[in-house]
Amino acid sequence: MQPKHLPDHDFRVLIGNDACSKPYNASLYNISAMSFGALSANAIESLNRGAKMGGFAHDTGEGGISRYHRTGGGDLIYEIGSGYFGCRNPDGSFSPDRFAEQAADDQVKMIEIKLSQGAKPGHGGMLPASKITPEIAEARGIPMGADCLSPAAHSAFSCPTGLMEFIATLRERSGGKPVGFKLCIGHRREFMCMVKAMLETGIVPDFIVVDGKEGGTGAAPLEFANHVGMPLVEGLSFVHNTLRGAGIRDQVRIGAAGKLITAFDIARAFALGADWANSARGFMFALGCIQSQSCHTNRCPVGVATQDKLRQRALYVPDKAERVARFHGNTMKALAEMAGAAALDDPGRFRPRHFMQRGPDGEMVEGDDAFPYLPEGFLIAGEGGDADYRKRWARASATSFAPPD
Ligand SMILES: Cc1cc2nc3c(=O)[nH]c(=O)nc-3n(C[C@H](O)[C@H](O)[C@H](O)COP(=O)(O)O)c2cc1C
Ligand code: SF4
Repeated sequence: MQPKHLPDHDFRVLIGNDACSKPYNASLYNISAMSFGALSANAIESLNRGAKMGGFAHDTGEGGISRYHRTGGGDLIYEIGSGYFGCRNPDGSFSPDRFAEQAADDQVKMIEIKLSQGAKPGHGGMLPASKITPEIAEARGIPMGADCLSPAAHSAFSCPTGLMEFIATLRERSGGKPVGFKLCIGHRREFMCMVKAMLETGIVPDFIVVDGKEGGTGAAPLEFANHVGMPLVEGLSFVHNTLRGAGIRDQVRIGAAGKLITAFDIARAFALGADWANSARGFMFALGCIQSQSCHTNRCPVGVATQDKLRQRALYVPDKAERVARFHGNTMKALAEMAGAAALDDPGRFRPRHFMQRGPDGEMVEGDDAFPYLPEGFLIAGEGGDADYRKRWARASATSFAPPD
């Protein structure tokens, strides 16, 4: 009954806690990780130019920072996967010095450690030698003529406290830029191990990006996609409430990805605890993807997901960069209207109570009942909140991901 008109729709969230000296004022909607290699040069360049025009961020994906990420001058989130592309030694291990060189670039605003992605959690990847062009080799820091492996697990750390120490190293080596990680929730206890490690080491990431199992990919085994990992709604609510239970929710920003294409999708993610949203396939559609699902064949008909120079000519960068910026701008405008309709000044203020969902018996369920915010600090106090959370928390260890029994 009290709708508002929000004149501005350039919504922002400041990412970076007390340990970070260069916080980033991010848009509430950004381009999710997609590598050069999965996407064509023209696609990467259009995304980056669009990000610059619209004032939002472009995640590099785990394939390193290519020359096409740089030409547009748009803000970058540098993603580091288990292959440490762009910051690796010849044997594939992490190189702090190479990392410092990459992270020093002013275009790089944040660092994201990729632990897993929704389409293939716990699964590595391999780029066959035949697909490695000189430009891909340059971006990744790998030789031509040999298959390029992304192992399933990281080699820079192996336990929860090791992950936090790695975060501290990246923060220091990047000169104080925000550092966080991306994952699709699998075993919930393992995420609790990480949170216990945050409390024990005092090293708290600046952000966590939660991917839903419904996430997309350039290449995943068909058996994994849509089946392995937790859907976004449940994973996001779990991460938000675990951080609340541990009393550190205010130190960590949460990003979310997984079919967040419309203003409604984004508003719902905010209600469940996200501070910002990412989209991969939404921006692919802006580039002209027609969902022919032939990304893996190198024969993308619209030049989005191919390394074939001739096919890439189908994607005209100046036109698509504008479309990328317009998709972002119009989605934010719709989000402003939706927040205004709910009498909110900012879409970040959506809460579960603004939504209802239909339960299995057909009855409407209040958002607050379906996805309640659990009390601050209940995991530390050992009482209140949710008994299932407390039981799992008791089994989590800061020093090992292995189950206690
Ligand atoms: C073509 C393509 C390539 C991707 N590459 C990466 C990657 O390099 N690193 C990563 O963390 N996620 C990657 N993803 C996953 C997305 O970043 C995102 O988390 C997921 O697709 C969910 O978002 P969406 O539903 O908006 O696509 C990729 C997705 C697509 C479609
Ligand atoms: S048009 Fe087809 S091949 Fe090209 S990106 Fe879209 S789904 Fe992949």
